[in-house]
This record gives sequence, structure tokens and C-alpha cells, in this order.
Amino acid sequence: MSRLSLIALFSLGLVLTAFAAEKEHLRIDIDGPLPPAKAEEVYNKIKGEMADGYAPAQDAVIKAYPRRQRFNIAPYLSDTHGNRYANNFANARAARAGYGDLRPGQRMPPGAVVVKDTFTVTKDGEVYPAAVFYMEKLAPGRNPATGDWRFVQLLPDGSYIGDTTGDNPEDVAFCYTCHKAMAGVDNLFFLPEAYRGK
Ligand code: HEC
Repeated sequence: MSRLSLIALFSLGLVLTAFAAEKEHLRIDIDGPLPPAKAEEVYNKIKGEMADGYAPAQDAVIKAYPRRQRFNIAPYLSDTHGNRYANNFANARAARAGYGDLRPGQRMPPGAVVVKDTFTVTKDGEVYPAAVFYMEKLAPGRNPATGDWRFVQLLPDGSYIGDTTGDNPEDVAFCYTCHKAMAGVDNLFFLPEAYRGK
């Protein structure tokens, strides 16, 4: 093959790669906040990409969450988590202990995990994977300063923002500052009413 045709082939490769990347990116028509059915449709298109993005963290909680029980009927806009569309998942231990239905004073057992994955929709309708948040219940007395919860936040590429029991705890200290408003029900907010499953 001549040098020129090799260069031509290489350039074509670049163009095709760029085209594929462009084509993969999700863009939707929007007119204000997404209604639940539309939010669900968008989530179904992007959830694989979200999970792939978080995967490099090699975090057991994050690997498992897509198979956990989801408690919301469709992604809801969470202004407290960066104005992103969010879902709530809980592991079996949290679900059995009554996640979403706690009576005042009730506590989650150690090992209970609640995960919130998120995506962003810009005002132009560009859809992007966004941060993932989780809370893991620790043994009683393990970390009273955060209600014995471990708060973790990761970026869409799987890098950690912080972990209250690991690296950069100061970067996730604001989590408990807000969540403790729900101290009566073990610092859990659950979900906006309209998005709760039956
Ligand atoms: C300003 C208040 C606020 C801050 C700060 C905040 N949250 Fe939340 N969190 C909420 C609210 C309210 C909900 C309920 C769902 C919603 O409206 O987003 C919630 C729900 C959650 C849930 C689902 C469990 C539950 O039922 O409460 C997780 C997990 C979570 N947040 C993790 C985090 C982490 C990790 C951080 C810090 C990086 C954080 N949150 C910071 C207010 C906050």
C-alpha cells in the first residue's frame, strides 16, 4: 500500500472515530424539567454508560448497585445533589430493614447500603452521566460524627471525590451536615413523594 493511501486510511479512521463519538452522545428535545416517563426513557438509554463510567473505581458497592432494588418509579430532579436526575437503590439488608418506611427512632443495620446514581440534562438537552453517591451503615459507635454512616461520592469517571471513612473526608463532610436533618429516621431522606413506588 502506498504511503499516501495509508495516510488516507488513517484520516478516514479518525473521521469515523470522531463520528462514532459524536453519534453516541445523547441529545434530547426538552421543554423544562423532564416528565417521569421521559426521564425513565432517557435513563434507560444512558444507565449502561453511567455504570461503565463508574466502573474504574473497582468499588464493590458501585459494581453491585444496578442489580439492587430501585425505590423510585422514575428519575427525579434532585436539587440537593447538583440539580441532577437521580435514582435510589438499596441493598437487601436496607430493604428488609424497611428503607423508605422507617419509624421514628428506628436504625438501619450495619451493612445497609443506599446508592444514588445521577445524570445531567443541560438546558440544550445534552445528556451526561453525573456523580454517584452512597451511604453505608457502619457498626454502632464506629463513626458517631456521621451517624455511623459512611458517605461517599464519585465522579462520572469513577474517581473518588471523598469518603468520610477514607480519603478526603473533608470533601464529603457536607453530606452529613444536611442529612442529619433527618436524624429521627437514621439520617435518611428517602424520595420525593410523587416518585415513590407502591
Ligand atoms: C442539602 C442537603 C443534602 C446534601 C448536602 C446531601 N444530600 Fe443526600 N439527600 C438529600 C435529600 C433531600 C435526599 C432525598 C432525595 C432527594 O430529594 O434528592 C437525599 C438522598 C440521598 C441518598 C439516598 C438515601 C436517603 O434516603 O437519604 C443518598 C445515598 C445520599 N443522599 C447521599 C449523599 C451524599 C454521599 C452526599 C454528599 C456527597 C449527600 N447526599 C449530600 C439531601 C442532601
